[in-house]
Amino acid sequence: MNLMSEKVLLFGSNSKVLAGGIAKLLDLTPVRLEVKKFPDGELYVRIDADVKGKDVVIVQTMFPNQNDSLIEFILAVDAAKDLGAKNITGVVPYLAYSRQDKRFQPTEAWSIKTVAEMLKAAGLNKLITVDTHYKHVKPGEFDFFGIPSINLSAAKILLEDVEKKIGKDFITIGPDFGSSEMIKYAIGKKIVMQKEKVCPDCGKKYSQCICRGSKRKYEISFKSEQNFKGKNVFVLDDIIASGGTMIRAIEKVKSDGAKKVTAAATHGLFLKDSLIKLKELTNYLIVTDSISTPVSNVSLAPLIAEALK
Ligand code: R5P
Repeated sequence: MNLMSEKVLLFGSNSKVLAGGIAKLLDLTPVRLEVKKFPDGELYVRIDADVKGKDVVIVQTMFPNQNDSLIEFILAVDAAKDLGAKNITGVVPYLAYSRQDKRFQPTEAWSIKTVAEMLKAAGLNKLITVDTHYKHVKPGEFDFFGIPSINLSAAKILLEDVEKKIGKDFITIGPDFGSSEMIKYAIGKKIVMQKEKVCPDCGKKYSQCICRGSKRKYEISFKSEQNFKGKNVFVLDDIIASGGTMIRAIEKVKSDGAKKVTAAATHGLFLKDSLIKLKELTNYLIVTDSISTPVSNVSLAPLIAEALK
């Protein structure tokens, strides 16, 4: 019996290309979730496949349109469970709300916990993420509020791609603590810059500032013990969202005398004009196809297909 025929691979609105790549490697036919939006903004989801007794994989990265893509995913998981799926694995490279992985202030929502509880209630049996920001978990297995999960890392494939494109003469660094597990996975050492957010009013670090809660803008500064003078530098991070972290990190290494600067991230959200700015600042810029962008030229498909085998 061909075990693969027992697997059904569904994909949501955000993951057509990635799901196609995974399906090809697993010799499966990907099935697009039928998704419609009602005039009032509510979503309709239908699974156009027989999932009864099958291992169902649902691929849905949660950017853009985090809220819609999350609801789409939850509706698909719950429908698959109702239709008799044996096991439901979610492949969610970019897991929305993973940056709100604790209560930074006492009365705010612990958003990722709420997301996890909804996914669990819907019937998700297993979750696969890639370089998730959630608790900066290491690559490997982790417990996601009771859902057995695997965090894959794109750090090595991004590093390999950079080596192919620009050679091996560079130093690799993360812009802040958030990238430390990725950097360790790629080069064996946690070499990251120290990013500090300083309150423009009280002059204290973000963690000590009691002015928080208002809409103040913190000033971001970077420190590093590395000597960048005359070196080629590769800055690697998990997420480029507003681009602020990456842009300022690159400005720091350049002002310290770096020669050529390359930047990469697993998830390129590239909000506002950050893609244009980063292209101007770098010699080479690359992200994975977790999110489709003009520079998503490293595919996660082989990594994910391997994990699904
Ligand atoms: C932070 O810990 C993360 O690793 C990223 O550096 C951060 O989320 C990037 O966000 P932005 O592009 O908005 O600075």
